[in-house]
Amino acid sequence: MKIKKVFIETYGCQMNFSDSEIVASIMSKNGYQNITNVEEADVIFLNTCSIRDKAEQKIRKRLQALQSVKKKKPGVVIGLLGCMAERLKTQLLEEEQVLDIIAGPDAYRDLPRLLEEVESGHKAINIILSADETYADITPVRPGNKGVSAFISIMRGCTNYCAYCIVPYVRGKERSRDIDSIVHEATGLFKNGYREVTLLGQNVNSYKWSNYVETINFTRLLNRIAEIDPLLRVRFATSHPKDISNELLHTIAAYQNICRSIHLPVQSGSNKILKLMNRGYTREHYMERIEAIHRIIPDCTISTDIITGFCDETESDHQKTLSLMEWAAFDYAYMFKYSERPNTMAAVKYLDNIPVGIKERRLNEVIEIQQQLSFQSNKRDLHKTFEVLVEGASKRSSLQYAGRTSQNKVVVFPKQDHQPGNYINARISNFTSATLIGEVVE
Ligand code: SAH
Ligand code: SF4
Ligand code: F3S
Repeated sequence: MKIKKVFIETYGCQMNFSDSEIVASIMSKNGYQNITNVEEADVIFLNTCSIRDKAEQKIRKRLQALQSVKKKKPGVVIGLLGCMAERLKTQLLEEEQVLDIIAGPDAYRDLPRLLEEVESGHKAINIILSADETYADITPVRPGNKGVSAFISIMRGCTNYCAYCIVPYVRGKERSRDIDSIVHEATGLFKNGYREVTLLGQNVNSYKWSNYVETINFTRLLNRIAEIDPLLRVRFATSHPKDISNELLHTIAAYQNICRSIHLPVQSGSNKILKLMNRGYTREHYMERIEAIHRIIPDCTISTDIITGFCDETESDHQKTLSLMEWAAFDYAYMFKYSERPNTMAAVKYLDNIPVGIKERRLNEVIEIQQQLSFQSNKRDLHKTFEVLVEGASKRSSLQYAGRTSQNKVVVFPKQDHQPGNYINARISNFTSATLIGEVVE
């Protein structure tokens, strides 16, 4: 029998990219071949995102394009996986005739059976969310990876219910993965030449695993991963400002291989908005946490997420976001305008009452400030020397190599005889707001 070829297309966050590697693993265990050329595919999976309306619109467009693929090749099976599958359920099968399979984020073990159902002439759907699925026993297949840096999911789901956010509804309850399976996976990656792992969860600070003897928190987990080898860099995301502890900061400070970069999404600088968002902290608490980071890990960079134009956001609330950004001098930020998501707390309880033009103007102001802050942040690195993990050829030129500092900044430097996975020291000789330019030094 001919081996069926599967092509997986991933949208959304790092967690989704990590999930696609789990799907690839499940498929190959079940006799399918994972491929990187969509033209040859017998099965096309789109692993989707619902975080903002724009993310869903992008997938709707892709489904339209896939209609012509299916006309040319009627046997091809098209499946929609992930958060958008979970949010829209059977509605998608009605609206998007091109789809054969709908599978939510906790249903990936069931994909081989769903494919069989399609073979027998039916459309197939599984959108059951689980309270304990973590895919802990599945070793992700990491295709197309340079083999230097890998994501490891340490938790799934979220139970924080920020008012604007769809994640708790599409990813289910927060649950942590068995620590031994995480350590085992990271150790295996290191042995296979990987030099960096990023531990992923919606709020890694609430990681919690109980065995018969003790309860292990995120700090302990980080400790164990950092102990695997000093040459294995450890990153993690996302930290929640309400839960990031001094204990964690001291652990980062104690290990050179835990990266000096913390992603700490603030969302807004106004206490009124933070309360409406149900974020569980105040502006003052956030500022105190930033001060603690600088005190305990002086060479740490801080990045954030910001939403503009949330319900009832006044000009004065917006100014508070701008002033907090200036105060915190974020090194990097992901910035979005508020997009109402159906059935979230904000959609049910509040009015989406900021006109889109104002949301956009505020977003542009936020982006402008961040550009200046990122530029200043890179400027501070001029003439300093950093240890850089070499990732491979730079995007712009094959004569240049690119890698990252512990602070998560990209450094481009002239190619010599280094290999991806090597560490070099780079002295920063120039910069743009996006990149550092370095020279290799001893
Ligand atoms: N768990 C992470 C965030 C996951 S979603 C945390 O708590 O920080 C990534 C980012 O998308 C969020 O930080 C937020 O800034 C943005 N986001 C989420 N829902 C959104 C919405 N409805 N509209 C606009 N941006 C949103
Ligand atoms: Fe969404 Fe809040 Fe959970 Fe982050 S912590 S995923 S923003 S509900
Ligand atoms: Fe990630 Fe988007 Fe889902 S951000 S968790 S893929 S809604």
